[in-house]
Amino acid sequence: MVSVLVLTVIFGFVASQWELSEHIFEYSHVYESIELDEWPFSFLVLSIGLAWYSWRRSVEANVELQERIRSEQRVQELLRHNSDLAQRLFTAQEDERRALARELHDEMGQTCTAIRTEAAVIGMGKMDPAGVGQSAQRIAQSAQQLSEITRHMLLQLRPMVLDSMGLADALSALCQQWQASTGVRCPCDIHTLPEPLSDYLSVTVYRLVQEALTNVARHAQATEADVKLWVSDTRELLLSIQDNGKGTRHSDAFQHGFGLLGMQERVASLKGEFNWQSQEGKGVHIRIKLPLEWA
Ligand SMILES: Nc1ncnc2c1ncn2[C@@H]1O[C@H](COP(=O)(O)OP(=O)(O)O)[C@@H](O)[C@H]1O
Ligand SMILES: [Mg+2]
Repeated sequence: MVSVLVLTVIFGFVASQWELSEHIFEYSHVYESIELDEWPFSFLVLSIGLAWYSWRRSVEANVELQERIRSEQRVQELLRHNSDLAQRLFTAQEDERRALARELHDEMGQTCTAIRTEAAVIGMGKMDPAGVGQSAQRIAQSAQQLSEITRHMLLQLRPMVLDSMGLADALSALCQQWQASTGVRCPCDIHTLPEPLSDYLSVTVYRLVQEALTNVARHAQATEADVKLWVSDTRELLLSIQDNGKGTRHSDAFQHGFGLLGMQERVASLKGEFNWQSQEGKGVHIRIKLPLEWA
């Protein structure tokens, strides 16, 4: 801009020294028949037009540049969010493995040792029949404990009930078990589903309900949690989990934990919609929409 102004001043100075306008007039005057003397004004209009056009282009380019900077910032933000999420995912995975390893070591190991010890004592043949009977009872109890631990661990690894029962019955069983273990009422309204649904969709819905109910038990202090699953007129799977507990603010809920973020990611992986609503003192209502997928 400064160089254009300097050039204009220099040109004005040189033109006045050379009497440029007079020279042009003298020259163009001869060609009056083709109106050559009017051309400088046309060039003036052309240069004003070009100046306006370049100003407009520079404004547009500036807007585009700002837009690009904003989208680059957004991409950086998303990348940061992604790596943060991946980190949390791996941490959660490790925590889960550690918990399983601890359970295997502590519970299974100890119970097996107890069974072995009881069997060894019986094997010595020094016990009276009543003692043998009591020992056998303890072995049976330990075996029962072992099968419960195995069932619990299997459920954590893979909800096998899905294979044997299908999603609707597996969810009803989950709600019943949850109600029995927490003492919180859990009415479960599952409509007839168009089976067989894809394995990924079934596991996703099961895990979503599992995580939502775990949260209710851990954080909500609720007396009731309602679970509903049905198919909409537009052939989408709709899931609703609502509790009547203490609720929480959105900013608090999505800041630290992994459970809710994991739920969101699961829903996003199926191109579904996740809606989370809560007011302090008014419980939490999670509504999820998932496109149907068949096996
Ligand atoms: N049903 C609920 N009622 C009240 N607070 C909830 C509920 N579900 C989640 N929250 C809040 O949201 C937070 C994040 O939940 P989540 O991501 O599952 O992590 P975590 O359960 O490991 O704390 C919880 O710590 C809790 O404060
Ligand atoms: Mg949780």
